[in-house]
Amino acid sequence: MNLQQATVLFNCNYRTDNHVIINQGGTNSGKTFAIMQVLFCLACEAEKQVITVVGQDIPNLKAGALRDAANIYSSWNELQAMVKSYNKTDRIFEFHNGTVVEFKSYDNAQDAKSGKRDYLFVNEANGVDWNIYTELALRTKKKIFIDYNPNSAFWVHDNLMGKPGVQLIISDHRHNPFLSANTKAKIEALKDEDHEQWRVYARGLTGRITGLIFNNWNICEQIPENAKPVAAGLDFGFTNDETGVVLVYKQNGELWVDEILYETALTNTDIATKLTTAGISKNLEIVADSAEPKSIEELRRLGWRISGAKKGPDSVNHSIDILKRFKINITRQSINLRNELGRYKWRTDRAGKTLNEPTDTWNHLIDPLRYVALNKLNENKRKTLKSRLPHKEELTKNFATANLLQ
Ligand SMILES: Nc1ncnc2c1ncn2[C@@H]1O[C@H](COP(=O)(O)OP(=O)(O)OP(=O)(O)O)[C@@H](O)[C@H]1O
Ligand SMILES: [Mg+2]
Repeated sequence: MNLQQATVLFNCNYRTDNHVIINQGGTNSGKTFAIMQVLFCLACEAEKQVITVVGQDIPNLKAGALRDAANIYSSWNELQAMVKSYNKTDRIFEFHNGTVVEFKSYDNAQDAKSGKRDYLFVNEANGVDWNIYTELALRTKKKIFIDYNPNSAFWVHDNLMGKPGVQLIISDHRHNPFLSANTKAKIEALKDEDHEQWRVYARGLTGRITGLIFNNWNICEQIPENAKPVAAGLDFGFTNDETGVVLVYKQNGELWVDEILYETALTNTDIATKLTTAGISKNLEIVADSAEPKSIEELRRLGWRISGAKKGPDSVNHSIDILKRFKINITRQSINLRNELGRYKWRTDRAGKTLNEPTDTWNHLIDPLRYVALNKLNENKRKTLKSRLPHKEELTKNFATANLLQ
């Protein structure tokens, strides 16, 4: 096959005789893209093979390997000619030669015992259990590809590295010529923000990222029917930063949070349209970044019930304290919020000393969550609005997460 856009990572993964190929790397180095290209090439080369791509869960795959696969497929004519069909429900590419590329997640090791395959790709392997991996690996005939950001050591480091037949490739954004200068600059800027994060996400070196701020959250499948909406939080972004919106509910003293929007290049009119499409009612209170009064006023004129967050001298730490008092349930679909929470930590200086302020990098959904905390969850100051709040279904009737291959 004639592959027009291959990076050095493609060559390393394609031309290897090793059985296990570990792709450790910083963010956006092109790991997932290159491995998907390799898998598509391998799929075309022999008949009746099974190629399994595994992730922690389906939302993770949709934001990772499946998204890259869709991009590769849509811009590669030769590949399209080889593919017979794509089944969206089962997430399976079927090739004319009888080979399939399937995207799956497994709940436990027992579940992972089903099926055999020729090639395995474990995408963002630090989200997948060792027990699941071993069952899958046992049932893989040819090669295993693994990729991840090394925020801390895990089973790959403990059980695979250095073993015979295992190759380690470390990459970072400098290996990806298809990345915009803006994105590269943003990754490098971590150097001034947090040295440990820079080592991991800009250089792909195994970190010891400690000091995560929120440990009081877990994943839930959905918002309970009787949960009461508290408010939506909104953080404005544009060129480099995403505009983020979360919808916060309360039930039984716990918070339930759903990511609604995470996108760059949105004007205020675009934001209004997106909120409507997401099924957000104009009765719902929106708490937004008070640093943008003009945008807030524009949205108010478009009919939204929006106000600025009550920021004060110590409001960042104060809002973190408020949120820490709750058990927070994050919907599985909220993939960007889950990622941000997994990276939101106290800053450290070059000497590794922890500072009393959070990193200011991946917080476009955490900041809106903080805004809701400041205005609506600050119990001492809060007026009870419960009786006036509309029911959850009313507010989210039309909500559907936009996704390429959904
Ligand atoms: N060969 C390529 N041709 C065109 N674009 C590419 C190529 N490789 C990478 N890219 C672009 O770079 C982006 C980042 O690549 P990719 O998602 O593979 O990074 P990653 O190393 O898996 O990052 P992360 O660790 O954050 O998951 C892709 O979304 C795609 O836009
Ligand atoms: Mg990736």
